[in-house]
Amino acid sequence: MHDGCILGIETSCDETAAAVVRSGERLLSNVVSSQIATHQPYGGVVPELASREHLRAIVPVVRQALAEAGQSYQSIDAIAVTRGPGLAGALLVGISYAKALAYALGKPLITVNHLEGHIHSVLLEEKQKGDFEIEFPVLALVVSGGHTHLFLAERVSAERARQWRANEGRGRSGEALRSPRREDADHGWKYENIGRTRDDAAGEAYDKVAKLLGLSYPGGPIIDALAKHGDPQSVKFGLSQIKHPNRGTPRDKQTEFDFSFSGIKTAVLRYVQTEKMSSSIESRRRAMGKLSRPKAADVLPLCDQKTLGLIASFQRAVVDDLVEKTLRAARAREARTLFVTGGVAANSELREKFEMRGAQEGLPVYFPSRQLSTDNAAMIAAAAYPKFLAQDFAGADFSAEASWAL
Ligand code: KG4
Ligand code: ZN
Repeated sequence: MHDGCILGIETSCDETAAAVVRSGERLLSNVVSSQIATHQPYGGVVPELASREHLRAIVPVVRQALAEAGQSYQSIDAIAVTRGPGLAGALLVGISYAKALAYALGKPLITVNHLEGHIHSVLLEEKQKGDFEIEFPVLALVVSGGHTHLFLAERVSAERARQWRANEGRGRSGEALRSPRREDADHGWKYENIGRTRDDAAGEAYDKVAKLLGLSYPGGPIIDALAKHGDPQSVKFGLSQIKHPNRGTPRDKQTEFDFSFSGIKTAVLRYVQTEKMSSSIESRRRAMGKLSRPKAADVLPLCDQKTLGLIASFQRAVVDDLVEKTLRAARAREARTLFVTGGVAANSELREKFEMRGAQEGLPVYFPSRQLSTDNAAMIAAAAYPKFLAQDFAGADFSAEASWAL
């Protein structure tokens, strides 16, 4: 019996990543080659450059992941690759490489949804610690540079999970499938998307606000560090700036758990204009341009109290919205456990607030380590394990799915 030693490959955005995970719970290696330096001058990911960098990095990154895991191409049991969502050209690099490798080695190939990967990064680490019993349903907030989604997740039999995916929650004759019983619980997962962003993802708002204020890319880590030095009450962002606009949306498509982060970005821009902050932003941008890998300690002296207050207030508004909407959804859908994952889950204020509010509401909250919060391939190999057990393998005729829904 193979113990499911899976090589994961992830190239959906700006990290070329490969990892080896055994049985969905033993992290043997986790290699991430970041393209931050390539995209930094543009203040965001440039898709063509991302594909070119993936092409350059994919072979050495996979080699390193196998070597660090003490595995060879022959000793792994399967190859898992991100099929979407993400940048089509970037995804195709990982997919073409994974297909070629699987074909040449005669190993099964498993396709994984990037968002499912983020959810499984939590499980991987909790299972690795041992004694992990979670109560279902789980409500997972996946919050990153490309996504802000709420998924209600259940564990179901592998066969049921396959049917669910194929028929969008309907049985053969169109009837709604029963919700799973505990004794059915096996290896499959099913997800219901109960909230999503209507415009920008939360991480995208961090990146755009950082760019607007002349800070470095990606914006999340630097805003996280600087926010600690500002007064979060100094700028009042109204609820209307983070309320999703329902206007023009058909009634059946409306959901009270949707997010919207483009309004707050515009509000920051307006504040910068009314407070005449443009020239100080320009001088900070010039100073930042001279630093190769700017750290918070380098940037702090370049920010006055007004800027730090704006940064802290922006973060407070985003964090409060994410936490309170997630908790409201958890109450409404009777979730028993919360997962918070994706790049923005690395944010310290978000973690603190979720822990505090989760404890008040009697809800256990789990995060991945900071290393596994942002994009990586360990989460892809871990999410592939249930599919490996169910022999849910891909043929050779699939392609990248830039907007693949989970
Ligand atoms: O999951 P990820 O690596 O890639 C996507 O799938 O998008 O997330 C990257 C995003 C970026 O927008 C980055 O600014 C944000 O996560 N991020 C953070 C923090 N660290 C990364 N946002 C807030 N606070 C952080 N500490
Ligand atoms: Zn991601």
